Amino acid sequence: MMEALDQQAINILKDNDRGGYTVPTAGLYPYQWNWDSAFAALGFATFDLPRAWQEIETLFTAQWDNGMVPHIVFHQPDEGYFPGPDVWQGKGPIASSGISQPPLVATFARKIYQRDPELGEQKLRSLYPSLLKWHRWYMESRTESGAVASTHPWESGRDNAPDWDEASQAIDTSKVGEYQRRDTSHVDASMRPTKLDYDRYLSLLYFGRDANWDEAEIARNASFRVADPTLTFTLLRGHRDLAEIGRMLGEDVSEIEAWIAALEKGCMTLWNQEIDAFDSVNLRNGKFAGSLSNASFLCWYAGIESPDMIAHLERLLASGHNIVPSYDPAGDDYDAMRYWRGPVWAMMNALVGWGLEDQGHVVLARAVRQQTAGLIANFGFAEYFNADNGQPAGGGHFTWTASVWLSWSLSDIAGG
Ligand code: SER
Repeated sequence: MMEALDQQAINILKDNDRGGYTVPTAGLYPYQWNWDSAFAALGFATFDLPRAWQEIETLFTAQWDNGMVPHIVFHQPDEGYFPGPDVWQGKGPIASSGISQPPLVATFARKIYQRDPELGEQKLRSLYPSLLKWHRWYMESRTESGAVASTHPWESGRDNAPDWDEASQAIDTSKVGEYQRRDTSHVDASMRPTKLDYDRYLSLLYFGRDANWDEAEIARNASFRVADPTLTFTLLRGHRDLAEIGRMLGEDVSEIEAWIAALEKGCMTLWNQEIDAFDSVNLRNGKFAGSLSNASFLCWYAGIESPDMIAHLERLLASGHNIVPSYDPAGDDYDAMRYWRGPVWAMMNALVGWGLEDQGHVVLARAVRQQTAGLIANFGFAEYFNADNGQPAGGGHFTWTASVWLSWSLSDIAGG
């Protein structure tokens, strides 16, 4: 049975391959997404290394002059998704959105390199300047008060997380007007963001677009700017891997070392003593969101230790919920089925689990890995899973869930 699941995962990646890039799932997400592609590359690396590198190379063909690598690349028109390229009006060499996404690529490229260092070194030598430019863009345009700021809930990757609820109240939606959502024609509305959420997403999009995606203007005047653990911890981890890549290539990595030191200090601005956890901060008023999310548990992935976060994870494991819920089931805004307000995401579990493994928390790492394997084995390659009962949710036949299955060798542990 486990071999059958390996094959199913491989088939998903092949089915979602559009020739050089992979869609997260047909229908709901018909383009190339940034952090989805990082996972796709990791999945392909288990059976087709040249295709894995190609995924990353294709993503970087969309890099903007300022270094930003967009969160969606619109390679081919598709009427089934809103908002598309005509709405975003990105300023890159090919049609794209105007915001970025958590920077996983340097970390995953290093993992892919390790599977074949000869091929990997050649690929990394040409990718390195682009990776460095992207990371520099994050440091120069988005690092504020020490941590990394998200300018849109889509940029953090955790679209409707409770992290943004308070900060989003400042977004004026009065001029958004009529539009037609497409996501709810693919999956049930109970699993997706609300209409108010979408109004806010569009209002922020229009603001950025009308500012011609000028970072300084967005930093000064956009109504939403939230420092977040997803961007901060993935960038810190990405810097560490980029520095290792640079050393391997014989580059001077002192600039990256300074970024690492800055973020090691800066990430502590996300520590909310009231909940004893890493949290998001509304940079417009300094308020914490008061949200324990699955991104809070990315500290180990970033190489940051925290006994309090270990205690939270142990509490959640003992609570009987599926691990790791995207929002604390004990929190007021918990919704077991609604996207980033409760459901479990296998790809976040992989980041949390790899971080725990790296930091030597082997028992907890095994628990997260085992639970992830069990969810996929029992409920399939879903986009995410109900945190109470494991029911599959969102899109199916999902690229990053298949990639996690393959790259975390979940067939070795499922049922064990
Ligand atoms: N996740 C967003 C969507 O649902 C975009 O990044 O469309």
